[in-house]
Amino acid sequence: MRRPETVEGADLAPLSTFRLPATADRLIILDQLEQLPQLPRDNDSLLVLGGGSNTVFTADWPGTVLLNRLRGIEAEPADNGAVRVRAAAGENWHQLVRWCLKRELYGIENLILIPGSVGAAPIQNIGAYGGELAAVLESVSAWDRQNGALIEIPAAECGLAYRDSRFKSSERGRFLITAVSLKLQRQFQPALGYQSLVDHLGARAISTPTPRQLAAAVMRLRRHRLPDPARLANAGSFFKNPVLGASTAAAMLAEHPCLPHWRLSDGSVKLAAGWMIDRQGWRGRRVGDAGVYQNHALVLVNHGRASAGQLGELIDRITASVAGEFGVCLEVEPNLIGFE
Ligand code: FAD
Ligand code: EPU
Repeated sequence: MRRPETVEGADLAPLSTFRLPATADRLIILDQLEQLPQLPRDNDSLLVLGGGSNTVFTADWPGTVLLNRLRGIEAEPADNGAVRVRAAAGENWHQLVRWCLKRELYGIENLILIPGSVGAAPIQNIGAYGGELAAVLESVSAWDRQNGALIEIPAAECGLAYRDSRFKSSERGRFLITAVSLKLQRQFQPALGYQSLVDHLGARAISTPTPRQLAAAVMRLRRHRLPDPARLANAGSFFKNPVLGASTAAAMLAEHPCLPHWRLSDGSVKLAAGWMIDRQGWRGRRVGDAGVYQNHALVLVNHGRASAGQLGELIDRITASVAGEFGVCLEVEPNLIGFE
Protein backbone atom coordinates (compact mmCIF):
# COMPACT_ATOMS: atom_id res chain seq x y z
CA MET A 1 0.00 0.00 0.00
CA ARG A 2 1.20 3.51 -0.88
CA ARG A 3 1.47 5.94 2.02
CA PRO A 4 -0.76 9.01 1.49
CA GLU A 5 1.01 11.99 -0.04
CA THR A 6 1.79 14.59 2.65
CA VAL A 7 2.68 18.31 2.36
CA GLU A 8 4.04 20.26 5.34
CA GLY A 9 3.01 23.93 5.76
CA ALA A 10 0.31 23.78 3.07
CA ASP A 11 -1.31 26.84 1.44
CA LEU A 12 -5.10 26.51 1.93
CA ALA A 13 -6.24 29.53 -0.14
CA PRO A 14 -6.44 27.61 -3.44
CA LEU A 15 -8.25 24.73 -1.70
CA SER A 16 -11.25 26.84 -0.64
CA THR A 17 -13.48 28.62 -3.19
CA PHE A 18 -13.64 31.74 -0.97
CA ARG A 19 -9.83 31.87 -1.13
CA LEU A 20 -8.99 33.75 2.10
CA PRO A 21 -5.29 33.43 2.96
CA ALA A 22 -4.55 30.54 5.36
CA THR A 23 -2.17 27.64 5.89
CA ALA A 24 -2.32 24.22 7.57
CA ASP A 25 0.48 22.54 9.48
CA ARG A 26 0.08 19.50 7.23
CA LEU A 27 -1.97 18.37 4.23
CA ILE A 28 -2.65 14.68 3.59
CA ILE A 29 -4.08 13.51 0.28
CA LEU A 30 -6.18 10.38 0.77
CA ASP A 31 -6.75 8.31 -2.36
CA GLN A 32 -6.96 4.71 -1.07
CA LEU A 33 -9.26 3.24 1.58
CA GLU A 34 -6.32 1.21 2.93
CA GLN A 35 -4.68 4.48 4.04
CA LEU A 36 -7.47 5.20 6.56
CA PRO A 37 -5.89 3.49 9.61
CA GLN A 38 -2.82 5.73 9.21
CA LEU A 39 -4.82 8.93 9.75
CA PRO A 40 -4.45 11.00 12.93
CA ARG A 41 -6.67 9.73 15.74
CA ASP A 42 -9.94 11.20 16.90
CA ASN A 43 -8.47 13.59 19.45
CA ASP A 44 -6.05 15.19 16.95
CA SER A 45 -7.25 18.18 14.94
CA LEU A 46 -8.10 16.82 11.50
CA LEU A 47 -10.20 18.75 9.00
CA VAL A 48 -11.58 16.93 5.96
CA LEU A 49 -11.82 18.90 2.74
CA GLY A 50 -13.47 17.99 -0.55
CA GLY A 51 -13.85 20.84 -3.05
CA GLY A 52 -13.66 23.57 -0.37
CA SER A 53 -16.84 25.22 -1.71
CA ASN A 54 -18.49 25.34 1.71
CA THR A 55 -15.42 26.02 3.84
CA VAL A 56 -14.11 29.50 4.60
CA PHE A 57 -10.75 29.76 6.35
CA THR A 58 -10.59 32.83 8.56
CA ALA A 59 -7.45 31.62 10.34
CA ASP A 60 -4.64 29.10 9.87
CA TRP A 61 -5.56 25.50 10.68
CA PRO A 62 -3.37 24.27 13.54
CA GLY A 63 -3.31 20.61 12.52
CA THR A 64 -3.87 18.32 9.55
CA VAL A 65 -6.15 18.95 6.59
CA LEU A 66 -7.16 15.81 4.74
CA LEU A 67 -8.01 16.15 1.07
CA ASN A 68 -10.44 13.44 0.09
CA ARG A 69 -9.56 12.11 -3.35
CA LEU A 70 -11.18 8.64 -3.19
CA ARG A 71 -12.58 7.85 -6.65
CA GLY A 72 -15.04 5.47 -8.31
CA ILE A 73 -18.71 5.21 -9.29
CA GLU A 74 -20.70 2.03 -9.78
CA ALA A 75 -24.36 1.10 -10.27
CA GLU A 76 -26.30 -2.07 -9.43
CA PRO A 77 -29.96 -3.10 -9.48
CA ALA A 78 -31.94 -2.39 -6.27
CA ASP A 79 -35.51 -3.23 -5.13
CA ASN A 80 -38.56 -2.54 -7.27
CA GLY A 81 -36.66 -1.64 -10.42
CA ALA A 82 -34.63 1.09 -8.72
CA VAL A 83 -30.87 1.40 -9.21
CA ARG A 84 -28.33 1.85 -6.44
CA VAL A 85 -25.50 4.21 -7.39
CA ARG A 86 -22.49 4.07 -5.12
CA ALA A 87 -20.00 6.91 -5.52
CA ALA A 88 -16.73 7.44 -3.69
CA ALA A 89 -16.51 10.61 -1.60
CA GLY A 90 -13.78 12.24 -3.69
CA GLU A 91 -15.85 12.25 -6.89
CA ASN A 92 -17.14 15.61 -8.11
CA TRP A 93 -20.89 16.00 -7.38
CA HIS A 94 -21.79 17.70 -10.67
CA GLN A 95 -19.93 15.00 -12.65
CA LEU A 96 -21.88 12.35 -10.73
CA VAL A 97 -25.17 13.99 -11.76
CA ARG A 98 -24.00 14.00 -15.39
CA TRP A 99 -22.86 10.35 -15.10
CA CYS A 100 -26.36 9.41 -13.89
CA LEU A 101 -28.18 11.47 -16.55
CA LYS A 102 -26.09 9.79 -19.25
CA ARG A 103 -27.19 6.36 -17.97
CA GLU A 104 -30.84 7.45 -17.65
CA LEU A 105 -30.82 7.21 -13.84
CA TYR A 106 -33.06 9.86 -12.30
CA GLY A 107 -33.61 11.62 -8.98
CA ILE A 108 -30.74 14.13 -8.68
CA GLU A 109 -31.13 16.26 -11.83
CA ASN A 110 -32.35 19.31 -9.81
CA LEU A 111 -29.01 19.20 -7.96
CA ILE A 112 -26.91 19.62 -11.09
CA LEU A 113 -24.05 22.16 -10.98
CA ILE A 114 -23.80 22.27 -7.18
CA PRO A 115 -20.04 22.57 -6.66
CA GLY A 116 -18.00 20.25 -4.47
CA SER A 117 -17.49 16.61 -3.71
CA VAL A 118 -19.84 13.67 -3.27
CA GLY A 119 -18.58 13.13 0.28
CA ALA A 120 -19.66 16.60 1.39
CA ALA A 121 -23.19 16.23 -0.03
CA PRO A 122 -24.64 14.60 3.13
CA ILE A 123 -22.85 17.03 5.47
CA GLN A 124 -25.40 19.77 4.88
CA ASN A 125 -27.90 17.69 2.90
CA ILE A 126 -27.39 19.64 -0.31
CA GLY A 127 -30.52 21.00 -1.90
CA ALA A 128 -31.61 23.23 -4.76
CA TYR A 129 -34.57 23.99 -6.98
CA GLY A 130 -36.97 21.66 -5.18
CA GLY A 131 -34.53 18.73 -4.87
CA GLU A 132 -32.66 17.53 -1.81
CA LEU A 133 -30.10 14.78 -1.21
CA ALA A 134 -32.34 13.34 1.53
CA ALA A 135 -34.87 12.29 -1.13
CA VAL A 136 -32.44 9.78 -2.71
CA LEU A 137 -29.77 9.01 -0.10
CA GLU A 138 -29.80 5.34 0.93
CA SER A 139 -26.69 5.21 3.13
CA VAL A 140 -23.31 6.74 3.84
CA SER A 141 -20.06 4.79 4.24
CA ALA A 142 -17.75 6.40 6.76
CA TRP A 143 -14.53 5.92 8.67
CA ASP A 144 -15.41 6.33 12.34
CA ARG A 145 -12.38 8.07 13.83
CA GLN A 146 -13.62 7.35 17.34
CA ASN A 147 -13.58 3.56 16.87
CA GLY A 148 -11.13 3.24 13.98
CA ALA A 149 -13.63 1.30 11.82
CA LEU A 150 -15.41 1.59 8.47
CA ILE A 151 -19.18 1.63 8.99
CA GLU A 152 -22.35 1.98 6.95
CA ILE A 153 -24.86 4.57 8.22
CA PRO A 154 -28.44 4.30 6.86
CA ALA A 155 -29.86 7.62 5.62
CA ALA A 156 -32.48 7.59 8.39
CA GLU A 157 -29.64 7.80 10.95
CA CYS A 158 -27.82 10.71 9.29
CA GLY A 159 -30.01 13.39 10.91
CA LEU A 160 -30.58 15.11 7.55
CA ALA A 161 -32.47 18.40 7.74
CA TYR A 162 -32.42 21.74 5.89
CA ARG A 163 -28.67 22.47 5.44
CA ASP A 164 -27.86 20.18 8.39
CA SER A 165 -26.96 16.63 9.48
CA ARG A 166 -25.40 14.85 12.46
CA PHE A 167 -22.06 15.22 10.62
CA LYS A 168 -22.35 19.02 10.64
CA SER A 169 -23.75 19.39 14.17
CA SER A 170 -23.73 16.86 17.01
CA GLU A 171 -20.90 14.65 15.69
CA ARG A 172 -18.84 17.14 13.76
CA GLY A 173 -15.36 15.78 12.97
CA ARG A 174 -16.06 12.18 14.06
CA PHE A 175 -16.78 10.62 10.66
CA LEU A 176 -14.82 10.75 7.44
CA ILE A 177 -17.32 9.95 4.70
CA THR A 178 -15.77 7.57 2.16
CA ALA A 179 -18.75 6.90 -0.16
CA VAL A 180 -22.49 7.50 -0.55
CA SER A 181 -25.18 5.18 -1.92
CA LEU A 182 -28.11 6.73 -3.74
CA LYS A 183 -31.36 5.04 -4.79
CA LEU A 184 -32.26 6.32 -8.25
CA GLN A 185 -35.08 5.51 -10.68
CA ARG A 186 -35.19 4.49 -14.32
CA GLN A 187 -38.58 6.19 -14.66
CA PHE A 188 -38.21 10.00 -14.91
CA GLN A 189 -40.57 12.07 -12.75
CA PRO A 190 -39.70 15.76 -12.93
CA ALA A 191 -39.56 17.47 -9.52
CA LEU A 192 -41.34 20.75 -10.23
CA GLY A 193 -41.87 22.12 -6.74
CA TYR A 194 -39.76 25.28 -7.14
CA GLN A 195 -41.76 28.12 -8.60
CA SER A 196 -38.94 29.99 -10.32
CA LEU A 197 -37.92 26.77 -12.09
CA VAL A 198 -41.50 26.18 -13.24
CA ASP A 199 -41.72 29.83 -14.42
CA HIS A 200 -38.42 29.52 -16.27
CA LEU A 201 -39.60 26.38 -18.09
CA GLY A 202 -43.01 27.98 -18.69
CA ALA A 203 -41.36 30.94 -20.42
CA ARG A 204 -40.02 28.37 -22.92
CA ALA A 205 -43.46 26.75 -23.20
CA ILE A 206 -42.28 23.60 -21.40
CA SER A 207 -44.70 22.13 -18.85
CA THR A 208 -43.46 18.53 -18.84
CA PRO A 209 -39.68 18.73 -19.27
CA THR A 210 -37.46 15.88 -20.38
CA PRO A 211 -34.57 15.11 -18.00
CA ARG A 212 -32.19 17.11 -20.17
CA GLN A 213 -34.53 20.08 -20.41
CA LEU A 214 -34.91 20.11 -16.63
CA ALA A 215 -31.16 19.88 -16.01
CA ALA A 216 -30.48 22.59 -18.61
CA ALA A 217 -33.06 24.90 -16.99
CA VAL A 218 -31.50 24.45 -13.54
CA MET A 219 -28.04 25.17 -14.99
CA ARG A 220 -29.27 28.34 -16.73
CA LEU A 221 -30.88 29.63 -13.53
CA ARG A 222 -27.79 28.86 -11.49
CA ARG A 223 -25.41 30.51 -13.98
CA HIS A 224 -27.61 33.59 -14.08
CA ARG A 225 -27.91 33.97 -10.28
CA LEU A 226 -24.68 32.66 -8.79
CA PRO A 227 -21.05 33.66 -9.41
CA ASP A 228 -18.70 31.02 -10.83
CA PRO A 229 -16.09 30.47 -8.09
CA ALA A 230 -13.39 30.09 -10.77
CA ARG A 231 -13.95 33.77 -11.70
CA LEU A 232 -15.14 35.35 -8.46
CA ALA A 233 -14.30 33.70 -5.13
CA ASN A 234 -17.41 32.77 -3.12
CA ALA A 235 -18.99 30.00 -1.04
CA GLY A 236 -22.54 30.11 -2.44
CA SER A 237 -25.28 31.27 -0.05
CA PHE A 238 -23.55 32.76 2.95
CA PHE A 239 -26.57 32.63 5.28
CA LYS A 240 -29.29 30.03 5.81
CA ASN A 241 -32.86 30.96 5.04
CA PRO A 242 -34.45 31.42 8.49
CA VAL A 243 -37.28 29.05 9.41
CA LEU A 244 -39.95 30.53 11.68
CA GLY A 245 -42.96 29.04 13.47
CA ALA A 246 -46.33 29.57 11.76
CA SER A 247 -47.60 32.44 13.95
CA THR A 248 -44.32 34.41 14.00
CA ALA A 249 -44.07 33.98 10.23
CA ALA A 250 -47.68 35.12 9.73
CA ALA A 251 -46.96 38.34 11.65
CA MET A 252 -43.80 38.92 9.63
CA LEU A 253 -45.61 38.30 6.31
CA ALA A 254 -48.44 40.66 7.30
CA GLU A 255 -45.83 43.38 7.69
CA HIS A 256 -43.81 42.36 4.59
CA PRO A 257 -46.29 40.76 2.15
CA CYS A 258 -43.72 40.61 -0.68
CA LEU A 259 -41.24 38.52 1.34
CA PRO A 260 -40.71 35.27 -0.67
CA HIS A 261 -41.38 32.24 1.54
CA TRP A 262 -41.98 28.49 1.48
CA ARG A 263 -44.38 26.61 3.77
CA LEU A 264 -42.78 23.43 5.18
CA SER A 265 -44.60 20.18 5.92
CA ASP A 266 -44.53 20.73 9.72
CA GLY A 267 -46.30 24.12 9.40
CA SER A 268 -43.18 26.25 9.81
CA VAL A 269 -42.22 28.79 7.15
CA LYS A 270 -38.84 29.34 5.46
CA LEU A 271 -38.14 32.96 4.53
CA ALA A 272 -35.86 34.24 1.77
CA ALA A 273 -32.86 35.76 3.58
CA GLY A 274 -31.54 37.07 0.23
CA TRP A 275 -34.65 39.25 -0.16
CA MET A 276 -34.24 40.68 3.37
CA ILE A 277 -30.56 41.51 2.80
CA ASP A 278 -31.42 42.96 -0.61
CA ARG A 279 -34.17 45.15 0.91
CA GLN A 280 -31.57 46.59 3.27
CA GLY A 281 -29.62 47.76 0.22
CA TRP A 282 -26.65 45.41 0.52
CA ARG A 283 -26.29 44.17 -3.06
CA GLY A 284 -22.92 45.23 -4.50
CA ARG A 285 -21.70 46.82 -1.26
CA ARG A 286 -18.33 45.89 0.21
CA VAL A 287 -15.98 46.17 3.17
CA GLY A 288 -12.57 46.29 1.53
CA ASP A 289 -12.45 43.30 -0.82
CA ALA A 290 -15.21 41.38 1.00
CA GLY A 291 -18.49 42.14 -0.72
CA VAL A 292 -22.10 41.24 -1.42
CA TYR A 293 -22.62 39.80 -4.90
CA GLN A 294 -24.18 42.26 -7.32
CA ASN A 295 -26.83 39.81 -8.61
CA HIS A 296 -27.74 37.99 -5.38
CA ALA A 297 -27.64 39.43 -1.87
CA LEU A 298 -27.34 36.05 -0.15
CA VAL A 299 -23.92 35.45 -1.71
CA LEU A 300 -20.79 37.06 -0.26
CA VAL A 301 -17.73 37.29 -2.48
CA ASN A 302 -13.99 37.86 -2.20
CA HIS A 303 -13.03 40.45 -4.82
CA GLY A 304 -9.40 39.36 -4.57
CA ARG A 305 -7.59 40.30 -1.40
CA ALA A 306 -10.30 40.14 1.24
CA SER A 307 -9.09 39.56 4.78
CA ALA A 308 -10.82 37.62 7.55
CA GLY A 309 -11.31 40.93 9.37
CA GLN A 310 -13.11 42.51 6.40
CA LEU A 311 -15.33 39.46 6.00
CA GLY A 312 -16.11 39.48 9.73
CA GLU A 313 -17.10 43.14 9.62
CA LEU A 314 -19.32 42.56 6.58
CA ILE A 315 -21.05 39.60 8.28
CA ASP A 316 -21.63 41.64 11.45
CA ARG A 317 -23.02 44.62 9.56
CA ILE A 318 -25.39 42.53 7.43
CA THR A 319 -26.71 40.47 10.35
CA ALA A 320 -27.19 43.61 12.48
CA SER A 321 -29.07 45.38 9.68
CA VAL A 322 -31.40 42.38 9.05
CA ALA A 323 -31.98 41.89 12.79
CA GLY A 324 -32.75 45.59 13.19
CA GLU A 325 -35.32 45.71 10.39
CA PHE A 326 -36.88 42.22 10.51
CA GLY A 327 -36.05 40.96 14.02
CA VAL A 328 -34.49 37.84 12.48
CA CYS A 329 -31.09 36.46 13.48
CA LEU A 330 -29.32 35.18 10.35
CA GLU A 331 -27.17 32.07 10.69
CA VAL A 332 -24.00 31.67 8.61
CA GLU A 333 -24.30 28.69 6.25
CA PRO A 334 -20.73 27.66 5.23
CA ASN A 335 -18.23 26.21 7.68
CA LEU A 336 -16.26 29.16 9.02
CA ILE A 337 -12.93 27.86 10.23
CA GLY A 338 -11.30 30.15 12.77
CA PHE A 339 -14.14 32.52 13.80
CA GLU A 340 -16.09 31.82 16.98
P1 FAD B 1 -16.04 21.31 1.53
O1 FAD B 1 -16.13 22.78 1.61
O2 FAD B 1 -14.75 20.71 1.15
O3 FAD B 1 -16.50 20.72 2.95
C1 FAD B 1 -17.69 21.17 3.54
C2 FAD B 1 -17.82 20.55 4.93
O4 FAD B 1 -17.95 19.15 4.83
C3 FAD B 1 -16.59 20.79 5.83
O5 FAD B 1 -17.04 20.89 7.16
C4 FAD B 1 -15.79 19.53 5.66
O6 FAD B 1 -14.99 19.25 6.79
C5 FAD B 1 -16.89 18.49 5.51
N1 FAD B 1 -16.50 17.37 4.64
C6 FAD B 1 -16.20 17.44 3.31
N2 FAD B 1 -15.97 16.21 2.82
C7 FAD B 1 -16.11 15.36 3.85
C8 FAD B 1 -15.99 13.95 3.99
N3 FAD B 1 -15.67 13.16 2.96
N4 FAD B 1 -16.21 13.39 5.21
C9 FAD B 1 -16.54 14.17 6.28
N5 FAD B 1 -16.66 15.50 6.21
C10 FAD B 1 -16.46 16.09 5.02
N6 FAD B 1 -25.07 23.97 -1.52
C11 FAD B 1 -26.35 23.53 -1.62
O7 FAD B 1 -26.80 22.73 -0.79
N7 FAD B 1 -27.14 23.95 -2.64
C12 FAD B 1 -26.71 24.80 -3.59
O8 FAD B 1 -27.47 25.15 -4.49
C13 FAD B 1 -25.37 25.27 -3.51
N8 FAD B 1 -24.89 26.13 -4.45
C14 FAD B 1 -23.61 26.59 -4.35
C15 FAD B 1 -23.14 27.47 -5.32
C16 FAD B 1 -21.84 27.96 -5.26
C17 FAD B 1 -21.36 28.91 -6.33
C18 FAD B 1 -20.99 27.54 -4.22
C19 FAD B 1 -19.58 28.04 -4.15
C20 FAD B 1 -21.45 26.67 -3.22
C21 FAD B 1 -22.77 26.18 -3.29
N9 FAD B 1 -23.28 25.30 -2.32
C22 FAD B 1 -24.57 24.81 -2.43
C23 FAD B 1 -22.46 24.88 -1.18
C24 FAD B 1 -21.51 23.69 -1.52
O9 FAD B 1 -21.37 23.52 -2.90
C25 FAD B 1 -22.03 22.38 -0.91
O10 FAD B 1 -22.14 22.50 0.48
C26 FAD B 1 -21.09 21.21 -1.22
O11 FAD B 1 -21.67 20.00 -0.79
C27 FAD B 1 -19.72 21.39 -0.59
O12 FAD B 1 -18.85 20.40 -1.13
P2 FAD B 1 -17.29 20.52 -0.93
O13 FAD B 1 -16.68 19.20 -1.28
O14 FAD B 1 -16.76 21.68 -1.67
O15 FAD B 1 -17.23 20.74 0.64
N1 EPU C 1 -34.06 37.45 -3.80
C1 EPU C 1 -34.11 38.83 -3.84
N2 EPU C 1 -32.93 39.51 -3.87
C2 EPU C 1 -31.73 38.89 -3.86
C3 EPU C 1 -31.69 37.49 -3.82
C4 EPU C 1 -32.88 36.77 -3.80
O1 EPU C 1 -35.18 39.43 -3.82
O2 EPU C 1 -30.71 39.59 -3.88
C5 EPU C 1 -35.32 36.70 -3.83
C6 EPU C 1 -35.51 35.99 -5.17
O3 EPU C 1 -36.08 36.85 -6.13
C7 EPU C 1 -36.42 34.85 -4.81
C8 EPU C 1 -36.02 34.52 -3.36
O4 EPU C 1 -35.30 35.65 -2.87
O5 EPU C 1 -37.77 35.26 -4.82
C9 EPU C 1 -35.19 33.25 -3.24
O6 EPU C 1 -34.02 33.36 -4.07
P1 EPU C 1 -33.40 32.06 -4.78
O7 EPU C 1 -34.45 31.34 -5.55
O8 EPU C 1 -32.17 32.48 -5.50
O9 EPU C 1 -33.04 31.09 -3.58
P2 EPU C 1 -32.32 31.36 -2.20
O10 EPU C 1 -33.31 31.08 -1.12
O11 EPU C 1 -31.62 32.64 -2.16
C10 EPU C 1 -31.65 28.86 -1.91
C11 EPU C 1 -30.42 28.10 -1.50
C12 EPU C 1 -29.48 27.99 -2.69
C13 EPU C 1 -30.19 27.24 -3.80
C14 EPU C 1 -31.45 28.04 -4.19
C15 EPU C 1 -32.29 27.30 -5.21
C16 EPU C 1 -30.12 28.45 0.87
C17 EPU C 1 -29.33 29.10 1.95
N3 EPU C 1 -29.77 28.74 -0.37
O12 EPU C 1 -31.23 30.18 -2.21
O13 EPU C 1 -28.34 27.22 -2.28
O14 EPU C 1 -29.36 27.09 -4.93
O15 EPU C 1 -32.26 28.21 -3.01
O16 EPU C 1 -32.92 26.24 -4.59
O17 EPU C 1 -31.02 27.67 1.16
C18 EPU C 1 -26.14 27.40 -1.35
O18 EPU C 1 -26.55 26.71 -0.39
O19 EPU C 1 -24.95 27.78 -1.42
C19 EPU C 1 -27.07 27.76 -2.42
C20 EPU C 1 -26.71 28.51 -3.46
